This record gives sequence, C-alpha cells and structure tokens, in this order.
Amino acid sequence: MSLTATDHHFLAAILMFHCLITGKTVSGDIESDKQVLLSLKDHIVLWNPVMIETPFTGWNSKDESPCNWPGISCNTRGNHVTAIDLSDTNIEGPLFRNFSRLPELEHLNLSANRIYGMIPDDLSKCRNLRALNLSNNIIRGEFNLTGLDNLEVLDLSNNRIQGNLRLMFPAKACRNLVVLKLSSNNLSGQVDDLFNLCRNLHSLDLGGNNFSGNLSFQFGRLLEYSVSMNSLDGEIPSRFFSENCNLLRLDLSDNFFVGQIPKEISNCKDLVSLNLYGNELSGEIPPEVGSISSLQSLLLGENSFSRDVPESLVMSNLSLLDLSRNGFGGDVQEVFGRLHQVKSLVLSGNSYTGGLLSSGIPELQNISELDLSENDFSGPLPVEISQMSNLKMLVLANNQFTGSIPHGYGNLSRLQALDLSFNNLSGSIPSSFRKLSSIFWLMLANNSLTGKIPAELGNCSSLLWLNLANNQLSGPIPPEFFNVGSNATAQFILSNQAGQTASGFSQCTNLMRWIPTTDSPLSSFTLFPGRRCEIKFDFLLKRGGPGYLQLRGNKLSGGLPSEISKMHHLGTLYLDDNGFYGQLPPQIGSLPLFTLQASKNMFSGEIPEEIGMLKRLQILDLSYNNFSGELPGSLSSLTDLSRFNISYNPYISGRVPSTGQLSTFDQSAFLGNPLLEHPFFPTEDGRRTSPSVPGKAVGEPAEELLDRFRFAFAFSYPFFFVLSFLGFLFLGNEKISPLKSERKSKRRRM
Ligand SMILES: *[C@@H]1O[C@H](CO)[C@@H](O)[C@H](O)[C@H]1NC(C)=O
Ligand SMILES: *[C@@H]1O[C@H](CO)[C@@H](O)[C@H](O)[C@H]1NC(C)=O
Ligand SMILES: *[C@@H]1O[C@H](CO)[C@@H](O)[C@H](O)[C@H]1NC(C)=O
Ligand SMILES: *[C@@H]1O[C@H](CO)[C@@H](O)[C@H](O)[C@H]1NC(C)=O
Ligand SMILES: *[C@@H]1O[C@H](CO)[C@@H](O)[C@H](O)[C@H]1NC(C)=O
Ligand SMILES: *[C@@H]1O[C@H](CO)[C@@H](O)[C@H](O)[C@H]1NC(C)=O
Ligand SMILES: *[C@@H]1O[C@H](CO)[C@@H](O)[C@H](O)[C@H]1NC(C)=O
Ligand SMILES: *[C@@H]1O[C@H](CO)[C@@H](O)[C@H](O)[C@H]1NC(C)=O
Ligand SMILES: *[C@@H]1O[C@H](CO)[C@@H](O)[C@H](O)[C@H]1NC(C)=O
Ligand SMILES: *[C@@H]1O[C@H](CO)[C@@H](O)[C@H](O)[C@H]1NC(C)=O
Ligand SMILES: *[C@@H]1O[C@H](CO)[C@@H](O)[C@H](O)[C@H]1NC(C)=O
Ligand SMILES: *[C@@H]1O[C@H](CO)[C@@H](O)[C@H](O)[C@H]1NC(C)=O
Repeated sequence: MSLTATDHHFLAAILMFHCLITGKTVSGDIESDKQVLLSLKDHIVLWNPVMIETPFTGWNSKDESPCNWPGISCNTRGNHVTAIDLSDTNIEGPLFRNFSRLPELEHLNLSANRIYGMIPDDLSKCRNLRALNLSNNIIRGEFNLTGLDNLEVLDLSNNRIQGNLRLMFPAKACRNLVVLKLSSNNLSGQVDDLFNLCRNLHSLDLGGNNFSGNLSFQFGRLLEYSVSMNSLDGEIPSRFFSENCNLLRLDLSDNFFVGQIPKEISNCKDLVSLNLYGNELSGEIPPEVGSISSLQSLLLGENSFSRDVPESLVMSNLSLLDLSRNGFGGDVQEVFGRLHQVKSLVLSGNSYTGGLLSSGIPELQNISELDLSENDFSGPLPVEISQMSNLKMLVLANNQFTGSIPHGYGNLSRLQALDLSFNNLSGSIPSSFRKLSSIFWLMLANNSLTGKIPAELGNCSSLLWLNLANNQLSGPIPPEFFNVGSNATAQFILSNQAGQTASGFSQCTNLMRWIPTTDSPLSSFTLFPGRRCEIKFDFLLKRGGPGYLQLRGNKLSGGLPSEISKMHHLGTLYLDDNGFYGQLPPQIGSLPLFTLQASKNMFSGEIPEEIGMLKRLQILDLSYNNFSGELPGSLSSLTDLSRFNISYNPYISGRVPSTGQLSTFDQSAFLGNPLLEHPFFPTEDGRRTSPSVPGKAVGEPAEELLDRFRFAFAFSYPFFFVLSFLGFLFLGNEKISPLKSERKSKRRRM
C-alpha cells in the first residue's frame, strides 16, 4: 500500500508541528535562562557602573544561547544553565534575588567579591544547588539552609554571618554535604552533636567564629576538621580518635581546651597535620605521636606541655615543628638534632639557655626556617649557623646574645629574613651582608652595634625592610647605601616562582617586629585572610613595597644625601633621634612616603617646597630641629595628613593656613615656634581662640591608632585579634610585651 498525497501532507504537517513544538521548547527554555542571566547582568551593572573588564563583556544579548558565555555552563542538552562562576570579578552590591528562576542551577560561585547584605530567601528555592560558594564577601545576617537538601559543597567562609548555627542548620540539609566551610564569621552556639547526621561530610571548617561548649562530635570519619579560633573548652576526649580514624588534618588551635593530648591520637594513622596551638593543654607530649609516620606538620605552641620532648618525635616526614611558647627550657634537647627532614623549627618563647651546638641544630641541612627568638640564649651568636645554607628565615631576636655578628652569616645567600634584634650585639654591621642576595627583611634593632652603616648594604638590592633603630651607629650614611632594595620585586618574583618564598610568619611577635608600621598601609596587609598572622610575602610585595627604613635612636650624622630618591619603594622613613644636619634634600619629594619622621635632629634651612609632592603622606614629624624660613605653602596640599608636628623649630616663620588639613592640628603641633603665626592659637600675647575641630599632634598617637584599627576592623573583623595585637606595636621600639597578650587579645576579638 502506498501513501496518498493526503497522507504525505498529513505526515509532513505532523512532522512540522513536532519540530515547531520541540524547536520552540528548546529555544524557549534556554531563552528563559538567558533572560535571567541578562537580568543578572543588569543587576550587577546597576551596582557596578564603572566596572571595566568583566566576564559580562562577553555576555551578548544577541547570542542565541548563553552557554558559551564566560562563567556560564549548561547541561549537555544545552537547554539549561547549570553553573555560574563569577568568583573574583570585582562584583559589589547585594545578592541577585532571582537565581531560583534558573531551574537546573547546580553550581553557584560568587566568592571573592564584595557582595553585601543578607542571603535572600530566593536562594533556598534553588533546590538543585549542589555547590554554593559565597566565601570572601561581606554577607551579613543569618542564613537558612531549609530547602537546599542537595547541597554537597557549601562555602560561606569569610563573611559576617551571625547567629546560632543550630537554628540555621536543619538535619536534612546536611544529608549530602561533603564540604562545609563556615570559617571566619560570627556564628555561635554549641557544636556538640550538630554534625553527627552528616554522614557524607569529609571536610568541616568552623574556625574563627564564636562557637562554645565541648567537643562531643564524632569526627573520626572526617578527613579534615577545624574549629580553630573559637571558645570551645573541656578536654579532648580520647574516644574521638577511634580505631577507624581517617583524619588527615585536625585543627583545634586557639580554643580553651585543657588536659592532655589523648595517646589514642595515634589511631589517626594518616594524619598529616595536627594543630593544637594556643590552648591550655598540659602534661607530656604523648610519645605515641611519634608513631604517626605521615605527620608533616605538628603545632603545639602556646600550651603548657611539660618540659621533656619525647625522643620519638623524629617522624620521617615531619617538616614543620612548632613548640613555641611552652615551658621548655634549659639546654636544647638533643632530639632536635635528629630532625633531619624538618624544614621549619619554631622554639621561640621558651626558656632555653644553651645547647644550640651540642644539640646539633646547626647541622640540620634541611632547615629553612629557624625561630629561636624570646629565649634566654646568651654568649656569642654561633658561627656554625653560617653553614645552614638552606636557611630562608633566621630569627634569634629577644635573647641575650653578645659579641659581634659573625661575618659568615653573609654566606647565607638564600636568607630572606634575618632578625637579630633585641639582643646585646656589639661591633659593626658586617660588610659581608652585601652577599645576602635574597634578603627582604633585616632586623638589627635594639642592640649595641657601632660603626658606620656599611656602604656595601647597598648591594642588597632586594632588601625592602631594614630596621637598625636604637643602636650606636654613627657617621654619615654613605650614598652607595641608597641602592638598597632597588630591585626587590624582581627578586621576589624569582623566589616566588621557584616556590621558595619563606612563609614562617605564623608567630605574631615576629610580625610585630617586622611590620612595625601601624602608621603605614603595611599594617593593612596583615588583615588578609589567614590565621595567626600568617601573612605572606606576596601580599606585601604585590606592589613592590612599601618598604621602610628605620634608623631612629642612633648617633648618625651628616646630611641626608639626595641619593635617597633612589629608594623608590620607600613608604616609611624614620630618622628621629640622631645627629643629622644640613638641609632636607628636595629629592625627598619623589618618594612614595606615607610616614616621614625626622624629629630630634639638627636639620636646618628651609623645609623644601617639594614636601608638598608627598601626596600620600599621613605622618610628618619635623619637630625639634633647626628649620628656618617660611612654612612651605605646599604643605596645604597634603590632604591625607593625620599627624603633624613642626614644634620647636624656633626659626620657622610664616603663617599656618586657616583652612585645609594643617588648620586641624592642635596647639601641640606648633609649640615653640615663636615666629609662626597660627590663625586660632594664641601667640605669647594670647589673642587667638581655639579651633572647633582640633586634629592630633604626633605626640599623642594612641587615639589615632585606635581609630585606624576600628576602620580596618570594619573590613575584617574576624582578624580583629590580629589588629588589637598590632595595637601594642612599636612606635618606640619598646621590647615587645610577649606571650599572653596575644591570647588575651584573641579572647577580646569578638
Ligand atoms: C526578578 O524577577 C521578577 C519577576 O519574577 C522581576 O519582577 C524582578 O524585577 C526580578 N529582579 C531582578 C533583580 O532582576
Ligand atoms: C567556584 O566554585 C565551584 C564549586 O565550588 C568550583 O568548582 C570552582 O573551582 C570555583 N571557582 C573558583 C575560581 O574557585
Ligand atoms: C570557594 O571559592 C574560593 C575562591 O574564591 C576557593 O578558594 C575555595 O576553595 C572555594 N571553596 C570550595 C569549597 O571549593
Ligand atoms: C527557614 O526557612 C523555612 C522555609 O523557607 C522556614 O520555615 C524556617 O522557619 C526558616 N528558619 C529560620 C531559622 O528562619
Ligand atoms: C556577633 O553576633 C552577635 C550576636 O550573635 C552580635 O551581638 C555581635 O555584635 C556580632 N559581632 C560582630 C563583630 O559583628
Ligand atoms: C565541658 O567539659 C568540662 C570538663 O571537661 C566541664 O567542666 C564543662 O562543664 C563542660 N562544658 C559543657 C558546656 O559541657
Ligand atoms: C612521606 O611523604 C611522601 C611524599 O609526600 C609520601 O610518599 C610518603 O608516603 C610519606 N610517608 C608516610 C609514612 O606517610
Ligand atoms: C633532607 O631531607 C630529605 C628528605 O626530605 C632527606 O632525604 C635528606 O637526607 C635530608 N638531608 C639531610 C642532610 O639530612
Ligand atoms: C663564607 O664563604 C666563603 C667563600 O665564599 C668562605 O671562604 C668562608 O669560609 C665562609 N664562611 C663561613 C663562616 O662559612
Ligand atoms: C651588653 O654588653 C655590654 C658589653 O658589651 C655590657 O657592658 C652590658 O652590661 C650588656 N648589657 C646587657 C643588658 O646584658
Ligand atoms: C634584578 O634582579 C633580578 C633577579 O635577581 C636580576 O635578574 C636582574 O638582573 C636585576 N636587575 C638589575 C637592574 O639589577
Ligand atoms: C560569644 O558567645 C558568648 C556565649 O557563648 C556570648 O556571651 C558572647 O556575647 C558572644 N560574643 C559575640 C561577640 O557574639
């Protein structure tokens, strides 16, 4: 039987109809997702009118399908959007409220932007969501997981989410969860058994919140668990470390745990990293820890462990050992000399008195970071350390070492940070330091060093942070010196490429000595996410500085050479309390300075007009010198100035402008300048009145600093403890008030 013409027509019609329907269905579906994405684009553009380079540039409304748009993925049929990844794209503003109109959305990643406000209810209607990453934003309020039963990955870390987790976390929501990261928020409540029903959970990070209570959660089946920086207390129950423990990483640091480390911890045979830093643990370090042969990182610092370190602690993969701030003391135990694999050894903040040589530590060829600061070591610096050719960081600060600095230390060509400050070292700075071709930080402050600043230091072309304060250094600064730090970025890139950058910033006290400039934007670098002052060089060096040169409190003399202008990374310059004389070189105006302190010298002549070119200057202290001539008019262009002091320069004349920044500083900024007229303050004959909004003079920094901390706090409150800790910072190079202050400030952080 053959088909009639009518049949043919009929079939054709059916086919056409079918095509029409399916065709319409396909394009209709993706069209609706496309429209949602275009409204997402509108939403973002509305809040970010001046975004320049964004993924949205490629979101063209004329495209039939959005599936090839940057940041967008679709299902295999190409009819629905399944994933949006707009992480780290500079988006600012509230969260888009229509994601639920993308019916098959499974992955949403908006991390590392500046999204603020609350999480809208709309998001809980995205029932197919499997991965949600909103980390590193400024999201506040509570969240509600009801409805998101398919979530496998949830990352809300580094926001300002607050409230009791128990109320936000329905048991159903955690059925499929594999990864849960809530760190660095303001969540509270007891952790207890909250996660016992999360059968698939592998990775749980609750660090940096306000959780309390005891550990009763069975974390044996987890691979990673962190509750660091909370307020948990009680003992660490031994039953947690069951026979079938799978843990790879356990971080209970910075809580209030008491008692001993259960020896059952050795059941966690695969443990790679164990961090118990900053608790109130005591007793012996169980020798069983030594049987965890996979352990690479063991941090037991800031506890009260008893004095003997077990002989078993020589695991073959151990690479980081931190025993700082305990009650260890006497001679360094010989067990340390057998840690042939260890790369970082941190013994700071104990009471060790000797034994460096007999322990064999200087023969450990693999060590790249050695921190022995804040102990009671005395006698000469061991010259044997010159043989530790892999050292990148050597911190011997805050001991009682005497004698001169061994020339051999100049052989440590990989050294990136050398801190010998706060000892009783004498003699001169070795010219062999010219060979420190990788050095970024050199801290020799608060010793009794004498002689000139060696011209050879100028060869240290990567040296950005140099602190020589409070020694007996004398003579003029040689012009060649100012090549110091001239090529730091290149060296940094080099060592970073090789994965060679030292990262041993974990000790806040080091950071405090090394970044002594609360006065400069340097301090804001410490606010980046990371725990316990774990800042990294790359944050600091991203823009090639800012560096500092700290020479306060020596006997330096002569003029300040015009070559200073070569230090094109210099953000902070302290010259106070020396015998410098002559004019301030006008070339100083070309430096990217935030801070210029030159008080208590004998500088004379006119203050160069070029000082007005220091547009970023926030602190200017020229008090107690011999400057003369008119106060330069260009000073009024320093609009960022927050502290200023020109007092006791008896020959300064002219008139302080009645408007602008200078007019806001109170009288103490202008004392002892009889020739200087001030629009508000009385001269000796007492005619003028006070200004309504006085600023602060340099002499009274405390309030000013607090203001800065509060400001910074607004951006990163979880790291408030870092900030409050920085609040103790230097200014005058006082010996760092050590140990427990860090702990207290942690407790204050919320
Ligand atoms: C969300 O969708 C609704 C319609 O369902 C619309 O009225 C609203 O403007 C959309 N909001 C945004 C921000 O696009
Ligand atoms: C965004 O999140 C998804 C899911 O969590 C992840 O696969 C992707 O790698 C993330 N993108 C970035 C840049 O982190
Ligand atoms: C979330 O995104 C950030 C990048 O912004 C990434 O580092 C992080 O690993 C992601 N979280 C998860 C759980 O994939
Ligand atoms: C979470 O949302 C669900 C429904 O969307 C609601 O019933 C519940 O009360 C909410 N929970 C909280 C703690 O707001
Ligand atoms: C943290 O949350 C509590 C309420 O749970 C609130 O009182 C407190 O102000 C929040 N802290 C910060 C720094 O946001
Ligand atoms: C935690 O444990 C300690 C003893 O280990 C106990 O004194 C305390 O009451 C417990 N706290 C809670 C909230 O269970
Ligand atoms: C030590 O580390 C190496 C390389 O990471 C690894 O292959 C080896 O299995 C580790 N040893 C133990 C005992 O875990
Ligand atoms: C340094 O560590 C490696 C393993 O990481 C080891 O093979 C080598 O023997 C160590 N070097 C010394 C001098 O102990
Ligand atoms: C330093 O290196 C030089 C050769 O560059 C060598 O002669 C000298 O002995 C070394 N000093 C020490 C203390 O290792
Ligand atoms: C520092 O060393 C000098 C001798 O070099 C000595 O007179 C002085 O007492 C020492 N100071 C301290 C605090 O040990
Ligand atoms: C800067 O340092 C890099 C790496 O150390 C080196 O290759 C380059 O030649 C240096 N440049 C100058 C001008 O010294
Ligand atoms: C932290 O939690 C405790 C209760 O455990 C509460 O008293 C305190 O106010 C909370 N702190 C903040 C800043 O929310």
